[in-house]
Amino acid sequence: MTAQLNPRGDVAVLVPAAGAGVRLGPGRPKALRLLAGEPLLVHAVRRLAAAPSVHTIVVAAPPAEVQAVRELLAPVAPVIVVPGGAERQASVAAALAAVPAGPTIVLVHDAARALTPPELVESVAAAVRGGRDAVIPVLPVVDTIKEVGADEVVLGTVDRSALRAVQTPQGFRRAVLSAAHAAAGDSLTDDAGLVEKQGVAVSCVPGSEYAVKITRPFDLALAEHLLAAAG
Ligand code: CTP
Ligand code: MG
Repeated sequence: MTAQLNPRGDVAVLVPAAGAGVRLGPGRPKALRLLAGEPLLVHAVRRLAAAPSVHTIVVAAPPAEVQAVRELLAPVAPVIVVPGGAERQASVAAALAAVPAGPTIVLVHDAARALTPPELVESVAAAVRGGRDAVIPVLPVVDTIKEVGADEVVLGTVDRSALRAVQTPQGFRRAVLSAAHAAAGDSLTDDAGLVEKQGVAVSCVPGSEYAVKITRPFDLALAEHLLAAAG
C-alpha cells in the first residue's frame, strides 16, 4: 500500500540517489542495490514517508533510471523523481528546484542511509521548526584520530572530544538552503558545508547508529544484520 504523505506537513525531503556506488563494487547504481531483497532507495523512502511532518519527497535518480525509479517507488509513496547530476551537489540542486510551493523546511537525505529511522527525520525537522537555520545529526567519534603526513608518518593526535561524525538528514530553513545552493562554488560532500560558507550557524542534534551510510560491502552486510535483528 502506498503511504500517503501529509498535505499539512511543512517538510520537503530531497533524496540524492544518483551516485554509482563505486566503493560498493561493481553492479547497479547504489540506490538500486538490494538489501534484504529490496533496493536501498525503497528502504530509505519508506522510512521518510513514515515521518508525519513530511509533505513532499523529491528523489534525484541516476539519469538513465528515472522512469525505473518512478515505477519502483510508486507503490511505496508519492514521490517526485528528477534526474540527478554528476556530483552529489548537482543532484541536490536538481531536487531542490523541483520542490513545490508550501514546505518551509527542507531536509537533504542520502538514499545510502537506507535504515534511518523516521524519528531522526522528525527530530531534525523539529529543531529547524524551533528556530534553527541549519541542523545536522551527529555522533561522537569513537576512534582515536591521527593526522598523518604524505609518507604515512603521524604528525599528531587530534582532540577527539571536539569532533563529530555527521549524518543525514540535514535540515534547513528553505530560504537558507536555496541561498546556499545559489551561491555554491566548490563542490562539497554535504549541504551544511555550503550553508556554513554563507556564515549561517549550523546546530547539532543527536544522530542514530541506524543512519549509517552504506558505502562499502561491509556496511551492506551490517545493514542486512540490523534488519534481520529488528525482525
Ligand atoms: N549522490 C547523488 N549524485 C551523485 C553522487 C552521489 O545523488 N552524482 C548520492 C548517492 O546516491 C548517495 C549520496 O549522494 O545516496 C551519498 O553519496 P555516496 O555515499 O558517496 O554514494 P555514491 O556516490 O553512489 O558512492 P561512491 O562514492 O562509492 O561511488
Ligand atoms: Mg560518492
